[in-house]
Amino acid sequence: MSSPRFCPYEEGIDSRSPNRNLAPLSAAVDLEHQLWVGGCRLADLAARYGTPLYVLDETTLRAGCQAYCHALARHYPGESLVLYASKAHGSLAMAALMASEGLGLDVVSAGELLTAIGGGVDPRNIVLHGNNKSCVELELALEHGVTVVLDNWLELGLLERLCNQRAQRVRLLIRFTPGIECHTHAYIRTGHVDSKFGFDLEELEAVLRRLATAPWAEVAGLHAHIGSQIFELQPHQDLAAIMVKALVRARELGHHPKDLNVGGGLGVRYVASDDPPAIGAWVQTVSAAVVAACHQHQQPLPRLLCEPGRSLVATAGLTLYQVGSRKEIPGVRTYVAVDGGMSDNPRPITYQSRYTACLPQRCRDAATDTVTVAGKHCESGDVLLHNIPLPPVASGDLLAVWATGAYNSSMASNYNRIPRPAAVLVHGGQAKLVQRRETHQDLLRWDILPEHLRQSGSVPIG
Ligand code: LLP
Repeated sequence: MSSPRFCPYEEGIDSRSPNRNLAPLSAAVDLEHQLWVGGCRLADLAARYGTPLYVLDETTLRAGCQAYCHALARHYPGESLVLYASKAHGSLAMAALMASEGLGLDVVSAGELLTAIGGGVDPRNIVLHGNNKSCVELELALEHGVTVVLDNWLELGLLERLCNQRAQRVRLLIRFTPGIECHTHAYIRTGHVDSKFGFDLEELEAVLRRLATAPWAEVAGLHAHIGSQIFELQPHQDLAAIMVKALVRARELGHHPKDLNVGGGLGVRYVASDDPPAIGAWVQTVSAAVVAACHQHQQPLPRLLCEPGRSLVATAGLTLYQVGSRKEIPGVRTYVAVDGGMSDNPRPITYQSRYTACLPQRCRDAATDTVTVAGKHCESGDVLLHNIPLPPVASGDLLAVWATGAYNSSMASNYNRIPRPAAVLVHGGQAKLVQRRETHQDLLRWDILPEHLRQSGSVPIG
């Protein structure tokens, strides 16, 4: 029997729940130990599009969407809708892909809203979040008829004024903090009492009463989100029970809420030791908890909404870098520097997040080197991976960092005036550019040099 041309990159890959793998589902290794994703050799992508490069695997993205939708169809007897939290990775292509899988979008700004609309998402399937939405953002939401997640009293007043001016009603989900603690990084917890988002659970009664006499408002449902990169199922189970209780109260006060939006938060595997629950298990837990609580309170089932971000896109993405300089400090550490860093992936410096990497051109070679992968920014903390095992790394090698599909490109900056990378979507041997690489001209585009500061030698760029 002849050997197959490709082998899967990972052992024991979970094709039904992409959040449980390090690599995209389509990652495969050829006989020369070269890594391919979406039928494209990574070395070819680097040669064609340059580095750093975000690579997104369409197969993995679609599998994640289908995992949520199928699990809801299987475990939740009522209606449901998955809203992709577009802050995880916002682009026209991503919005369009999510819409093509039947998902709606959660957006948190005018920029994200316009991206969703530009990507063809049905405005009826868009919810606008934000703890300090501007009038412009609220007006845009009203204009397009998207649902607003009501966050605070100021916003309630603004919406009242805008709706009255426009003689229009707004569909609202009321966001509250359910008082649930979960063991994730302190910065990404949002459901505990000390949170800037939403109404306090104690305030909810007053908000519901106020809106009971507001002809401009339709209380369409409730919303809560307890945090991100969560590996426990219990907090989501507790959340469902708290939310159903609040739903009962809303009905008692004369509202007809239809939607229960439990937010996002399911974690993903960034390093081998991470072991997040499968998407199906998360959906099953949440569904069972909502059904049980509704049964207990003898309530009809609400439409169940959830807002996954990371678990839909993180492991579909990888970042390709080229290795440059190497610094060996005997007895201390070996640094290898790549041509990106904290500007394209701010998560390690911001949250001490850990990642996994490989050399895509020698991915089956023995890992005999231990290196720390540093970025190129003028900041000592600009380190992407600490002390990771790799085959011997040399200048010019490509390095792939796994699971960068979420909160990388969407949090990228131009620190040190470094242009942001391009992004390509790969599938079936084809790569499609979905975000072009920024140029140095792009970076200077918004600068204005006042006349009195102009030097005789100032040379315009471009
Ligand atoms: N819904 C709401 C209201 C949210 O605030 C978030 C995330 C989500 C849904 C999606 O959560 P996910 O399924 O992605 O966990 N920049 C941080 C993560 C911040 C999450 C903000 N909110 C990071 O890189 O870890």
